[in-house]
Amino acid sequence: MMEQYERSAEFVDILLASYWPELGPQVARALDGVPGPVVDVGAGGGHGTRVIAAAVPHSEILAVEPSPALRSVLMARVHEAAELRERVTVLPEGFLQARLPARLGAVVAMNVIGHFDPEERGAVWDLLADRLVPGGRAVVNLQPPTEPVAVPQFRSGEARIGRRTYEGLARAEPAGPEQLTWHLTYRTHQDGELVDEVAVSHVWWLLSEERMTKELGERGLTPKAAGSGMYVIS
Ligand SMILES: C[S@@+](CC[C@H](N)C(=O)[O-])C[C@H]1O[C@@H](n2cnc3c(N)ncnc32)[C@H](O)[C@@H]1O
Repeated sequence: MMEQYERSAEFVDILLASYWPELGPQVARALDGVPGPVVDVGAGGGHGTRVIAAAVPHSEILAVEPSPALRSVLMARVHEAAELRERVTVLPEGFLQARLPARLGAVVAMNVIGHFDPEERGAVWDLLADRLVPGGRAVVNLQPPTEPVAVPQFRSGEARIGRRTYEGLARAEPAGPEQLTWHLTYRTHQDGELVDEVAVSHVWWLLSEERMTKELGERGLTPKAAGSGMYVIS
């Protein structure tokens, strides 16, 4: 699974950047008044880590990122900002393997829950049930579609750096009743010409609101919809 990010990290971070102006204020609202420490699950290059740091001032943050390539972006982003360097710890394991504090104020899992298979997802919910402090919460988003349907190719983003423009394209096809295979293509253009193209594929475990509510309910947790596919779990 991680191999896809090794090949696409240079594009993933700059293309995800365009989603955070909308996502950031929603995550910040969901974290209002939350105690620390806060875990950023699958922090990627750290767009969300930065939002968490602003939303939960003075709190310790554990940014969990298993992909070495994306973690390099994260490390640089954290290191260059003194305010982040002081209180963000970057952990290189997967969320379920990471060395986390026994009690957690909040867990933020943006654009990542589909990387966990149903058994691992159960372990994620168990961890929330065991470790969230009273008044703590998790913030998770579900990405459409939540059913195994084909998704025709669409443009997932574009970014320009200097003379080059980077374009993301995405399509998906069902891979069984609970999974999609996403096919992602990253194109680089310069002077109107296509100069590079990287294609990666990965599986994504589907999760509907109903199923998440059932799984969480079995552990005494409740998700509340917070708009745009985001849920606050407590
Ligand atoms: C689509 S990116 C999202 C990055 C970031 N959360 C954002 O929204 O900008 C998904 C991230 O989840 C990470 N990831 C995948 N499996 C993981 C696991 N088991 N534990 C923690 N992170 C994981 C990937 O390495 C990748 O950085």
